[in-house]
Amino acid sequence: MTDYKSMEELKEFLHDSALVITGKKIYGLYKDIFPENTLILPVGENAKTLTVVKKILEEMHTRGLNVSDTVVAVGGGAIGDTVGFAASIYHRGMPWINVPTTLLSLCDSSVGGKTSVNFMGCKNVIGSFWNPTKRIVCKKFLNTLSKKQLASGLGEIIKTSFLNADFYGYVKNTYKLYEYDKQALFAAAIEASRIKAKIVAKDFRCESIRNNLNIGHTIGHALEAAYKYEHGIAVCMGIQIAMEMFKDSIERGFLEEARVMCRRLAKIPNFSADKLITFLRADKKNRNGDIVLLLPVRPGDTIPVNLKEEKFYALLQKLEEELKA
Ligand SMILES: NC(=O)c1ccc[n+]([C@@H]2O[C@H](COP(=O)([O-])OP(=O)(O)OC[C@H]3O[C@@H](n4cnc5c(N)ncnc54)[C@H](O)[C@@H]3O)[C@@H](O)[C@H]2O)c1
Repeated sequence: MTDYKSMEELKEFLHDSALVITGKKIYGLYKDIFPENTLILPVGENAKTLTVVKKILEEMHTRGLNVSDTVVAVGGGAIGDTVGFAASIYHRGMPWINVPTTLLSLCDSSVGGKTSVNFMGCKNVIGSFWNPTKRIVCKKFLNTLSKKQLASGLGEIIKTSFLNADFYGYVKNTYKLYEYDKQALFAAAIEASRIKAKIVAKDFRCESIRNNLNIGHTIGHALEAAYKYEHGIAVCMGIQIAMEMFKDSIERGFLEEARVMCRRLAKIPNFSADKLITFLRADKKNRNGDIVLLLPVRPGDTIPVNLKEEKFYALLQKLEEELKA
């Protein structure tokens, strides 16, 4: 469920909440809306640790929270993932509300109840499925995002468009999105989150069609870990690399249009296959020594790719060479 609020309404709501948790940067930017006893977490991925989860649990315990109370996370995907995870394990599951403040969290991570923290250098390996009771959306948060942060959200919007033929047409033709027009980005993010919600409703625990939302993520996560790209930008690059590696399986017209759409955001960077393969080897989706990904082949349609690590590496290395040439 999505609730739309102005900043004033959000402020009032936060002041009535049992525990409000946010990140240091958001707190600095929007200090006025937060209650005095707000719990402030480190910025971005630094929040996604078990140490921070422990801190949240201690705060919940010290304040005597129980399952009739609600914890509110105000932030991007990193804050939502961490607070959601802590909420999922305290008293075997506390109600929580997600207030997404980045374009990426608006269009993607605030929907679907995947919560997680990073562990021993690997992303999202400790987590749970725990839906927020609702999310509260406030458009004003987009005003303080950098172009890079907006691009990261746009990467996930493009990804979602590949899963829905109607939305694909809209995202392909709406040039304002690529000019980072906030109104257009907000509308597209809400639509992308609706599409995601419909997919998640059919497969909450990610056992079948929800996996489609992972297009671009196998290689994207490796790029993110190896080169520190923003998540949605890495996903957009990951989609392009996968599409080039397996281009013979993709409908020709779609391949060409998808290249244009993705390149408006970010082209394939130079990469080292050697470096990427070390992260790909640790991907939690791997099965029986195969690297696994879903490949978009036409708007609204994907196919699974399961390939032995050696073969995957050979294709990746070939693409690395082609890009250098
Ligand atoms: N749970 C899911 O389904 C899911 C889906 C996609 C991504 N993710 C996770 O989300 C995380 C990425 O999320 P993100 O892109 O929102 O990044 P983020 O949460 O790391 O935030 C990025 C930066 O933006 C700042 N920020 C947040 N809101 C701001 C605002 N309104 N104005 C200015 N700065 C602001 C943050 O302080 C941080 O420095 C990754 O950890 C990824 O794994 C989760």
